[in-house]
Amino acid sequence: MNTHTILRPIFLLATFIVALLTIVGCGDDTRHYVIGVSQCSEDSWRSKLHDELDIATYFNEGVTLRYASADDDPNLQENQINEMIDAGIDLLIVSPQQMGELSSAVDRAFDKGIPVILFDRKTGSNKYTAFMGADNYEIGRMCAEYVAEQLHGQGCVVEIGGLKSSSPAIDRTRGFRETLAKYPGLKIVGFGNGDWKEASGKRIMEDILKTYNGPIDCIFGGNDRMALGAKKALLEGGRGDCPIVVGIDALPAEGLGICQVRDGELTASAIYPTHGDELMTLALNILEKRPYQRENLMVSSLVTAANARVLLLQYEEVVRQGNYLRRMHERIDKTLHTIVLQRTIIGAFILLVTFIAIVSILFVRAYRQKHQLNTELRDKNQLLATQRDELQRQRDTLQEQHDQICEQRDLMESQRDELAVQRDELQKLAHLTPA
Ligand code: AHR
Repeated sequence: MNTHTILRPIFLLATFIVALLTIVGCGDDTRHYVIGVSQCSEDSWRSKLHDELDIATYFNEGVTLRYASADDDPNLQENQINEMIDAGIDLLIVSPQQMGELSSAVDRAFDKGIPVILFDRKTGSNKYTAFMGADNYEIGRMCAEYVAEQLHGQGCVVEIGGLKSSSPAIDRTRGFRETLAKYPGLKIVGFGNGDWKEASGKRIMEDILKTYNGPIDCIFGGNDRMALGAKKALLEGGRGDCPIVVGIDALPAEGLGICQVRDGELTASAIYPTHGDELMTLALNILEKRPYQRENLMVSSLVTAANARVLLLQYEEVVRQGNYLRRMHERIDKTLHTIVLQRTIIGAFILLVTFIAIVSILFVRAYRQKHQLNTELRDKNQLLATQRDELQRQRDTLQEQHDQICEQRDLMESQRDELAVQRDELQKLAHLTPA
């Protein structure tokens, strides 16, 4: 068997394996993207966004989301963003804690060619690919109009602003103040910036109450949590309930915004939309080089006792649909795993069968060649035996002839000896005979 004979089936096997692996591995032409989501903080509003983003991945198979939450620590968020950049992400979604604080890390991502979507809050730098968030100025304006309407343009307002230097806090306060200024009968009697948490709203109101003893007709909170914290301080301070408490976020779950409006704990709350599905669409439009808008403002609306129940019903339906999608996705995931397993088993089986077939072909070929060689060898042996016999026969004949020649030579020698004796005798006789 020469090298070519051995190599050809092996080459065929290799080609087959490559083709098979291509078939087994095919059917997945999805492009894969890793999207980093850097959150400044951890709260129910952001959990809702993450839920929506997770559901959006069900429709966009190739997307992997990497979340990081900085727990209101700008240095930690900067480190987390830098780690994401170094680990390799295709796009960064970032909700920066404050203006300016994170610019270097976000700018670094942008300068490295990683598309950056600022979500909910801005950095102050122009180095971003797109922005998506609510119009916080409009939210502030809408809340001020509502307060003015409820108080008929007359009353004392305490405002608890959001985290100082964060873009939503700045815009909400500006929208609220500029609109309130249209109503000379409405006065801001106390103000402080919190950190979006309930405790900060409570603390600010306690501080205000230390120096202010007048009436408080309205609390406007930069979000629901801070508005309720301030209300608590008022009640605990023995100043009675506040007639109008307005917040922002209006999250649709028990113990949160819309339910608190339904239960009368809040008078109203402005919806701060999350729209994770639209955020995912924007991210994919950027990644897949489809047209997109750079500035994307989400529309808000006010939740009051009049619409809280209807909105909750609608949200319940959305949650139900979301859970249904989640279950469907789990099922599809399971089915896909089974299909992949089946493909692998079939692939392995075909490989095994092919391997056995090729080994069998090689074996049969080797056996045939061996058999042919044996036959040729036997024929040659027979020929050699015949030739050997012939030689033996010729040697025997030669030996016989040699023996005959020797016999004749011996005979001739004995005749010669006899003749010599006779000659000697004749010579002797000749000497004896007188001349
Ligand atoms: O950035 C805006 C604020 O962030 C939301 O209103 C608040 O609840 C969240 O933590």
